[in-house]
Order: sequence, then structure tokens, then C-alpha cells
Amino acid sequence: MARERKLQFPEGFLWGTASSAHQCEGGNVNNQWYRWEQQGRTLTGERSAVAANWWQQAERDFELAEQMENNALRLSLEWSRIEPEEGRWDESALERYRVLLSDLRRRHMTPLVTLHHFTDPLWFADRDGFAREENIRYFVRFVRFVVEHLRDLCSFWLTINEPNVYAFLGYLTGEFPPGEQSALRALHVLRNLMAAHVQAFYAIRELQPEGQIGYCLNYRLLEAACSYSPLDRVVAGLQDTFFNWLALKLAEGERLPLPLRFVLSTVPRAAGARDYHGVNYYTRDLVAFDPRRPGELFGRRFPRPGAPMQDPGRGGYFGEVYPEGLYRVLHLVYRSTRGNKPLYVTEHGLNDVEDRLRPRAILEHLAMLHRAIREGLPVRGYFHWTLVDNFEWNEGWSAHFGLVELNPRTQERRPRPSASMFGEICRANAITE
Ligand code: NOJ
Repeated sequence: MARERKLQFPEGFLWGTASSAHQCEGGNVNNQWYRWEQQGRTLTGERSAVAANWWQQAERDFELAEQMENNALRLSLEWSRIEPEEGRWDESALERYRVLLSDLRRRHMTPLVTLHHFTDPLWFADRDGFAREENIRYFVRFVRFVVEHLRDLCSFWLTINEPNVYAFLGYLTGEFPPGEQSALRALHVLRNLMAAHVQAFYAIRELQPEGQIGYCLNYRLLEAACSYSPLDRVVAGLQDTFFNWLALKLAEGERLPLPLRFVLSTVPRAAGARDYHGVNYYTRDLVAFDPRRPGELFGRRFPRPGAPMQDPGRGGYFGEVYPEGLYRVLHLVYRSTRGNKPLYVTEHGLNDVEDRLRPRAILEHLAMLHRAIREGLPVRGYFHWTLVDNFEWNEGWSAHFGLVELNPRTQERRPRPSASMFGEICRANAITE
């Protein structure tokens, strides 16, 4: 008979879910994603529309999170609501966020507030957004404004969500708005986002010295398809550097790989500018050398044959479910930052409409997280992506990451079996392997 093992998490460990404004709120009609949707440029042609209707009724989903005994919840503020036109502040939008944050606190959930999660107000996007260094000041001004007005309700901030995804999908592959395909622009956007994080960090530090401030990157494991092939190893290494590590180097104020020093300036005052590292982890890919793919640094990406796979979604690929990857990524981030700050898993989840893999995947990923903690890594919390199914950017409604299933048309909710299982884990602050 298999023996069961109880893995207890440290006291005060944060358990929650993560989501973002545009994906959940509905009625966001003043940002560049709305325009992208209006232009029919998502893969499914779908729009976010009322999304999960959080602008009206987020509280009903917060109640579900409370029933799961979550003690934290990550959500984002929609810049285009708070500053609909340059320099004009919408007090009623701010008030709505005050209500939401108060509601979370009443339910004993620590809010983790993301200040930028992929969306830009139209006026900012139309000035070339983060592609221009001088625009960073608009973001920092917004950050100052919201922190001044919300600091009594929140002290845990995430400045910018996945700068690497925003930069590369928006400016290199063109899958996200503005749909550009320029490596050079992508690199500049990435650099400016990291500079924006650093400036936001110091602005928040000044307004709220006790605040906990960080950013998160999406870490995707990229491995040589054949470890004996020098070409596979080179292209996997290139993709890995570009996608995963460049942003971290910029944010840590480290020297860039040689050729990049000619194109990118370092970020001033970067060293030390965060209180934690946010880790978003979903999957890994194998990478094989392919001379026909210059746009992908000559590497073709695919899952390990026979691996358990997430649902494909409309784009056809969300990748392998690979729990050990979380353990490896946590170690990699810890090592490459010389263990200078605590870590939070600010996102992990899977696209799985039938919940066929999710319950087990959650357990296995958490067992790996626990292993990292046992080995001394300071991992302080886990935020599952996501609470209820929501608008998955370019994939529209074709992806289902929720612990709770949502029918966006009827707004009906149905907790998936994973939801009660996650609740048990949060309640016990432990898993049983
Ligand atoms: C990362 C992003 O931050 C989030 O917006 C997205 O929905 C999830 N990953 C799932 O793809």
C-alpha cells in the first residue's frame, strides 16, 4: 500500500489565486486590447465584453475564494479606468477599487495588486507606449497616484506583469497588440519596462516604506531537444536567454551579454530595486535547431513526446504539464539572483476545461514547491491562475484556466473539482502526497 506523506507549508504562507483587470472586469473600452478585439484580431475573433463581470460583481467570486479559505488574492488595476485621458483621474473608478480591496480585507485575504497587466490606456498606446523611454514617466505618475490613494488598503504591490511576454508577443511575434515584428523594438520595450519597474519601485518605496514591491516574469523552461546536439543546445540557450533571463539581468542591473550592450542601455538604479521575485511558471518546451526559422532564433519548439498536455486552445498549443519545472525554475531564479530576496509563485495554472489534469497537477506542482522550501528556498506564497475562467487574450474564450468554470454568456459559475481540493490545501496549509 502506498504510504501517504503530509507536507506542511510554513506558517503565514500565502495561498490565493491570480487574475487581471481586463480579463475579468468587463466593459474595458479604453485600452489597446479593446481596440485589438474590436479590430477582430484575436485568434477566435472574440471580445472580452462583460468578461467575468468583476466591475459589477467581483465580490461574488471573492466569496468563492473565501470559501476556499484563501488568505490572499492577486488582482490588477486597470490604468485606463483610473486615468482615462492623460492627466484626468476618475475618482469613481478609484472608489470601486477601494471597495474591492476593502472587501478582500474583510474576508481576510491579503490583496496583491498588480499595477500593469498587459493593458495600456489608448492615449498611452497612441504615444507609442513603452517603446519610448520618455513615456515611462506617465506610468510612474499613475503608480504614484494609486499608491497615494490606496496605501491604507494595500501594501503588497506587483509593478509589471510578465514584461517579457508583453515585449516579445507585442513587438516580436506580433501576437499581442500592437502586433509588431521587430526584434530591436521588442528589446527596447523590454528594457523600458524594466526601467519602469525600477522607477515605480522607488516611487512606492517613498510613499509607503513598509510596502512589499516586486514584478514577475514568465519563466518558460526551454531545453535542447537532443542534449548531444550542439546546435540544439545553442538555439535552446539563445531562446532561453532572450525569453527568460534578459529581463532578469536588466532588472538586477547586471551586465548584458556582449552584443546586446551595443543596443541596450542598462537600467539605472536597478540593483536592489525589489523586495521579492515573482515567478510565473506554466510549461517547458524542447527546442530543436531549424534553419528555416530565423524569427525564432533558428529553434523549433515542441513538447516532450508523450508528455501530459494541457488543452490546446485555439492557438493549438499551451504545452506540457511538467511539475518538476516549477522546482527547477524556482532554483534557477534563486541562483541567478544569488538568493537576494524571497520568492512568490505569482502564477501557475493550466488550460484544462474538463479538469482532467488540474487536481493532480496542482498537487504535484505544490509538492515540488514544498521540495524547494525544504531545500531552503524562501518561497512565501502560491497564486493559482486563476479563480474563474476569464478572457485569455489572443485565445479569447477558448482557454479555461479557472478553478471555477464560467459561462461568459449566462455568467453562470460552476466550481470544478479542483476548487474544493485547492480549498482543502489552503485550509490545512498542507498537502497530502
Ligand atoms: C500569464 C498572464 O499573466 C495571464 O494574463 C494569462 O492569462 C495566463 N498567463 C495564462 O496564459
